[in-house]
Amino acid sequence: MTNKTSSIELVSSNGLIDRKIFIDEDIYKQELEQVFGRCWLFIGHESQVAKPNDFAAGYMAEDPILMCKDSKGKLHAFLNMCRHRGNRICRADAGNAPSFMCTYHGWTFATDGKLVGVPGYKEAYFEELDRSQWGLVEAAQLDTYKGLVFATWDRKAPTLKAYMGDMAWWLDLLVDRREGGTEVLGGVHKAILHANWKFGADNFSGDVYHFPITHASNFVTYGRRMPVFLGDRTRYTVNPGKGHGLMGAYVGPEAVNPSHFVNKSSVIRDYYMQTMPELEARLGTIRAKQGAISVATMFPNFTWHPSPMVRNWHPRGPDKMEIWSYCIVDKAAPQEVREAMRRNFVGSFGPSGPVEQDDMSNWVQCTSASKTWMGKKFEANVKMGIGHETKHEGMPGVMSGWPSETNQRSFYSRWSEIMEAPSWDKIQMGANH
Ligand code: FES
Ligand SMILES: [Fe+2]
Repeated sequence: MTNKTSSIELVSSNGLIDRKIFIDEDIYKQELEQVFGRCWLFIGHESQVAKPNDFAAGYMAEDPILMCKDSKGKLHAFLNMCRHRGNRICRADAGNAPSFMCTYHGWTFATDGKLVGVPGYKEAYFEELDRSQWGLVEAAQLDTYKGLVFATWDRKAPTLKAYMGDMAWWLDLLVDRREGGTEVLGGVHKAILHANWKFGADNFSGDVYHFPITHASNFVTYGRRMPVFLGDRTRYTVNPGKGHGLMGAYVGPEAVNPSHFVNKSSVIRDYYMQTMPELEARLGTIRAKQGAISVATMFPNFTWHPSPMVRNWHPRGPDKMEIWSYCIVDKAAPQEVREAMRRNFVGSFGPSGPVEQDDMSNWVQCTSASKTWMGKKFEANVKMGIGHETKHEGMPGVMSGWPSETNQRSFYSRWSEIMEAPSWDKIQMGANH
């Protein structure tokens, strides 16, 4: 985009979005630079790299990342790219290796990123190559939150804690339920989808509205009770600020009702109920009363869901994304529960899970309609619930109805703010942003 003020104009504060933001190549390039080049991005879980020299693949937008522990146990996030000509230095998804030898000409990098082997160093380079200058490219900052690993390319980005803000309070309901924290079960489930990445992020940030329509066939097919979704006054969407959003706040006498654990096997439901006292001891009564893990998006493209999973919406051009999903469980959960959770994850939100296929079909259509000559003249509408936000004692964030589009308005306005801001010191980081 040549006129950099336009992304502000493309997202209006009264809930209209120019659908150009879902298909325009120049806007996409600016997103890679301004959003994905500067925000904190999820790259994996510490349990994937528990031992020295363990590694696991990840992505920061389109860039392949090698998350690894060096031989001394320090965690790194490297660009998975040989510094010679750019070949990928590691093509495996995960494993343990003391070094990575490029399959093109054999440059070899240690797990701390140093270039430690150059074929022909004496005979061909005459010992004139300064190997210390040609190590792997490393993310500017790396940090963890209770087992989740995040990195950013921007050394001036705020701390991860500041970036998360109040979202961390809600994320604890997934990652801090039990002593020992969480771990990832098995490998990463991947899927390519011909839709703009923001449709996934927007949907998981607070789209309660689609549940009874999009997923109706799922409820019918599996003989599940159709929950009452619209106008439920015990449930709220929550906007913790900074473009993050979640759905699943429960207040009032119905909180901690096992029916909130919908779509779950009785093994999982019983497990959550049995571990409720530990949850309350760890996180306090107000959070324990939420009981269930929320469905959420942390800006820009990190999502979690009670299936249970964490997920990235990796952009692959304006009209394509690659979804990476990880099944995440309490380390302390018994085997029977872990297996039930794995099955629930695969059977609902895995690539073959019918729930996610419902969603995907809609996002593909929304993306392709944003391209057509007539269709693209009409804005997308995220106006629901403007002016009906509220607060609840002891719960951080702005609460909105069930359903509401407050979170989508927050997501897109944060997106436009970051798309325009020349640097982090021009991006609002206060409690109310
Ligand atoms: S591209 Fe890796 S050694 Fe040449
Ligand atoms: Fe959905």
